[in-house]
Amino acid sequence: MSNRTLSPPQTDASKQVTINLGERSYDIWIAEYCDAHWGSLLTLPTGSAALIVTNEVVGPLYADQLGRQLSQIYPAVHTLFLPDGEEFKDWRTLELIYNTLLSHGCDRKTVLYALGGGVVGDMTGFAAATYMRGVRFVQVPTTLLAQVDSSVGGKTAINHPLGKNMIGSFHQPQLVVCDLSTLATLPLRELRSGLAEVLKYGPIASMEFMEWLEVSVEKVLAYDLVALSHCVRRSCEIKAWVVSQDEREGGVRAILNFGHTFGHAIEAGVGYGVWLHGEGIAAGMVMAAELSQRLGMVDDAFVDRLTRLIKRAGLPTKGPILDATDNAGRYLELMRVDKKSDAGEIRFVLIDGPGTAVLRTAPDKLVREVIDACCA
Ligand code: NAD
Ligand code: GLY
Repeated sequence: MSNRTLSPPQTDASKQVTINLGERSYDIWIAEYCDAHWGSLLTLPTGSAALIVTNEVVGPLYADQLGRQLSQIYPAVHTLFLPDGEEFKDWRTLELIYNTLLSHGCDRKTVLYALGGGVVGDMTGFAAATYMRGVRFVQVPTTLLAQVDSSVGGKTAINHPLGKNMIGSFHQPQLVVCDLSTLATLPLRELRSGLAEVLKYGPIASMEFMEWLEVSVEKVLAYDLVALSHCVRRSCEIKAWVVSQDEREGGVRAILNFGHTFGHAIEAGVGYGVWLHGEGIAAGMVMAAELSQRLGMVDDAFVDRLTRLIKRAGLPTKGPILDATDNAGRYLELMRVDKKSDAGEIRFVLIDGPGTAVLRTAPDKLVREVIDACCA
């Protein structure tokens, strides 16, 4: 299928990272596209129609602007506003996307545009993976979390009441466009949540990035564009490096789930949308680091250092109590449905010395001790 370039990139601020996956390779563009020329700066996939999938918060801010750009390229451009929130990342909301595609007679050459955070991105990606057995899609992430993580790498999913992201598929986008100017409207709590996914990249892959964050975290929280640009670019580079080695999480890609085994249990345990994804991951990273320390893989000083950084980011360092009578038991129950579990055995991403992560099991007794120590 052909692509059309309207004109070459015009901004020096633009940064490009490539995900190398053979014929599924694609670029991540990182820039401040606040001018009206958004679509003209990039090579967008051509097609018979475009469907912008957004939500009722992001849509009113950015959908018109994107729609105007896309109408220069596609014969028809439709827009769908989904309800906003993690609690709507489910079958019922997904069906709204299929309904819209079918009612407009959209064919296999339709291109979906996911305009929003990770919730919109994951659902649009899953709809693209499954509509007519697969159509193309472009990620236009508008949260820090989506720009540094969820829009990149092709994981798509919806939640099930019994487990987070349990129904989904791998489906790579054609392109990711991180428009840094959209972060200006992102609430601070959401920025902090995204920062949790940024913070994970240091302990698992790059101590140099962790050191940069130790110097720069306040600048990121102040929406400093230079700091945000570095954050997004470095995170995407690390994620691209991991995903290019292991697209379908047969091995090394699992390290990107540092903090997620505990974090997903928190999200499901308190009810989707009560704790933000990044908040669960933040407390989960402290628990995973603590477990690593108790297994003799890192020292106390490293756990303290990571905990301090998470605290400075304004993120929780303790998990919630999920069950007043057997809190650790409830966490264990929720963690057993984790996708990394193997024959009912929970596998954790643990820090094997600063800057290196591994996937391994741990005795329940030790995990219980960690949960008891890390929940309040
Ligand atoms: P989100 O999509 O719910 O967005 C957070 C909030 O910010 C929402 O209310 C949204 O409407 C609003 N918002 C988005 N952009 C905005 C903007 N520019 N200005 C103002 N408001 C804006 O949450 P998220 O943190 O972006 O994503 C979390 C989801 O991502 C979770 O479901 C998680 O499972 C998923 N995730 C997926 C992957 C992956 O690899 N696919 C990785 C990490 C997380
Ligand atoms: N967010 C984890 C992954 O993409 O693998």
